[in-house]
Amino acid sequence: MILLKPILAIESSCDETGIAIVQPPNHLLVSLVASQVQEHARFGGVVPEVASRNHFLTIDPLFHQALAQAKIKVSDLGGVVVTSGPGLAPALLVGASYAKGIALGLQIPYLAVNHLEGHLLSPFFLEKQIPHHLALLVSGGHTQLTEVRKAGEYNLLGATQDDAVGEAFDKVAKLLGLPYPGGIEIDRLAKQGNPKCYDFPRAMMEKGNLNFSFSGLKTSVRYFLEKKTDHGKKQLSQQELKDLCASFQEAVITVLIEKVKRAAELKNLNCIGVSGGVAANSALRVALKNLCDAQGWKLHLAARELTGDNAAMIAFAGMHRLLAGERTAISQEIKPQWQISF
Ligand code: KG4
Ligand code: ZN
Repeated sequence: MILLKPILAIESSCDETGIAIVQPPNHLLVSLVASQVQEHARFGGVVPEVASRNHFLTIDPLFHQALAQAKIKVSDLGGVVVTSGPGLAPALLVGASYAKGIALGLQIPYLAVNHLEGHLLSPFFLEKQIPHHLALLVSGGHTQLTEVRKAGEYNLLGATQDDAVGEAFDKVAKLLGLPYPGGIEIDRLAKQGNPKCYDFPRAMMEKGNLNFSFSGLKTSVRYFLEKKTDHGKKQLSQQELKDLCASFQEAVITVLIEKVKRAAELKNLNCIGVSGGVAANSALRVALKNLCDAQGWKLHLAARELTGDNAAMIAFAGMHRLLAGERTAISQEIKPQWQISF
């Protein structure tokens, strides 16, 4: 009986290998994430083939470590769910092939899960009901506002037209000579900087617009930096660097908060869910809390350990579908461009 057996979840869409095992209906037995960040840092970004190779080397030992920590045997598993897109094709292939091998070998149900759905539902991790709410997803690959009517019913309201917000953090960090991934570094430095020190542009703020654009902001930081350092001849002082990080972050957060407010008012929603790697940003978390407190809205922030890529969120998104009888044919291929607006 699949309902009683633990479910294995696998995530490998980018540069983290994730393995989680959940015991339905609501018990997480284990969630392990092996990050390849150091492997990609020397290239200044994720290299798909390097990611693929690292998933390949990591996935089997990580799976066995997860089984040991969950204190179960392979044969105890009742189903497998895996991220099949969107993401980097060579990276997705490793997780999907591994998951298919286990499902075929054990003759247990197999289900492809959308990575974005994993993020979107993560603020409600292991909760019984997903309320009708507005979801802000901010990660390295995506920036979007979605009306979530319930699990499985998604209406895309706005998205970035160029860079994702995490990508903007990483590119600006690179300009500033900070290590990859830069979001966390900017977050750290910004805490000691003045967010009002420099005025950077806020794009697409005209009435009714729910889309985003961050590439102009990144370019304006580049021009500012060239001027301030006389094209690299001078160095920024430590305080200037901190002020610059704080001011850039302030520009990003102002836009995100304004668009969340607009979208929630437009759709008459009083519940906000926030997910994705950038949802770990301390100043963004405070700004969202202030907004929701002022409006009397309920805020669901994904727990910090669930903001970055992980398999626990894939388990949660896939488990309900699997228990409801949904299956994916083993012959179905990965979908690197898979979107989820219906
Ligand atoms: O969700 P995620 O792990 O991967 C994708 O699915 O894209 O997000 C990674 C992104 C990176 O761009 C990283 O710089 C950013 O999240 N990030 C942050 C913070 N922590 C991670 N950005 C701003 N502040 C942070 N504290
Ligand atoms: Zn992600």
